[in-house]
Amino acid sequence: MDRFVVHPSGPLEGTVAVAGAKNSALKLMAASLLAEGTHVLHNVPRIADVDLMADLLRSMGLAVERHLTGALSIDRPDEVGTEAPWELVEKMRASIVVLGPLLARHGEARVALPGGDDFGHRPIDMHLASLEALGASFTTAHGFVEGRTDGLVGARILLEFPSVGATENVLMAAVLAKGETVIENAAREPEIADLAAYLNRMGAKVFGAGSSTIVVEGVEELVPVEHTVVPDRIEAATFLAALGVCGGEIVVQGARGDHMHMLVQKLGDMGLRTSPHPDGLWAMARGRLRATDIATLPYPGIATDYKPLLLTMLSVAEGVGIVTENVFSGRFRYVQELNRMGAQIRVEDHHAIVRGVARLSGAPVRAPDIRAGAALVVAGLVADGETVVLDAHHVDRGYERFDDKLRGLGADVTR
Ligand code: EPU
Repeated sequence: MDRFVVHPSGPLEGTVAVAGAKNSALKLMAASLLAEGTHVLHNVPRIADVDLMADLLRSMGLAVERHLTGALSIDRPDEVGTEAPWELVEKMRASIVVLGPLLARHGEARVALPGGDDFGHRPIDMHLASLEALGASFTTAHGFVEGRTDGLVGARILLEFPSVGATENVLMAAVLAKGETVIENAAREPEIADLAAYLNRMGAKVFGAGSSTIVVEGVEELVPVEHTVVPDRIEAATFLAALGVCGGEIVVQGARGDHMHMLVQKLGDMGLRTSPHPDGLWAMARGRLRATDIATLPYPGIATDYKPLLLTMLSVAEGVGIVTENVFSGRFRYVQELNRMGAQIRVEDHHAIVRGVARLSGAPVRAPDIRAGAALVVAGLVADGETVVLDAHHVDRGYERFDDKLRGLGADVTR
């Protein structure tokens, strides 16, 4: 059954482990296109998007295998196909990150154009402009973007906005370009630093990843290596949100407080206590949360992916909070679903005004995307009666054993 059934729960207690970050693992898998041989990735989450990226790589001729140890090995032969088909790109926009590595290694790539989605229109103009600056040229026809180059050459690139995907695509192209590339206004997410660490281990020369200026000295060749994916900060935040609405005391094993500074600070304002723990992050919540204002921003700001969780928390907090979305204009769709559960949220343009209520009211709701789906499950934990979250497959795209993990903390969630 493709749904979660949730009942009021709490207080939560115990330890829950976070998996490797989806948004790092997918890019590391794409980066394996850069070097022949066998790559081994540890801590890759068992989620649907990883399966889709594996399918995409397989469609190009790579062998991807999950071992009993949990490690994912990727065997990259000398020759690979250079096309990303529509059937896969349609299911996962992140497929676009094969563009940079394919151009760098093979001088050509044909990738289906990703369409719009629940976040609204999501263009790839910055990806293309930055790769053009390195010497690629593009044509679009029949729903595909086709790139070619006779050899990439390092350049100075100033991104209009610190786009995560554009930074990653240009980084993966620049490592094999001739000479030096400087990416200014680069995205600073921990997943970018993880990608750079992997590339450097492969023999690349990337400096400054994690800051807004990344310098890349192109090298001739890269080699396959082993690497462990950084923990998923959004999954960690999901358990903190569940704790926030249910109360209790938990340890989020593997969570990196240093990757979630701003969020932890905001949660502190709302009354949730956290502290570093030898295993990850300890957290405690008692009584009702307090409302606060929140604006989403590129890292180190509050990630847009945390927003649905924060809206759930504000829905049952004391007072009024305003949430401003600065990254994806159309990312408020699940608000209607939360309101059907009794939340009092009004959306004005890219702001949501949330008037906290004491309890929500269980209802059938539909998960519109990964994070919003998880946030609706969390809402069900503080909703009287039964909440049924339909379209659970959206949540599977980004969460491994989501209901199991919540149940481990004492939450009443079944699949
Ligand atoms: N943008 C452009 N042109 C471009 C690229 C981006 O206008 O060429 C705009 C986007 O439309 C958006 C903003 O720039 O308004 C930021 O987009 P960004 O490129 O940073 O996002 P992304 O790489 O497409 C990744 C994550 C998202 C996460 C965002 C923001 C992956 C696979 N996805 O998307 O995560 O919300 O960064 O942090 O890494 C998720 O995990 O569910 C998810 C959607």
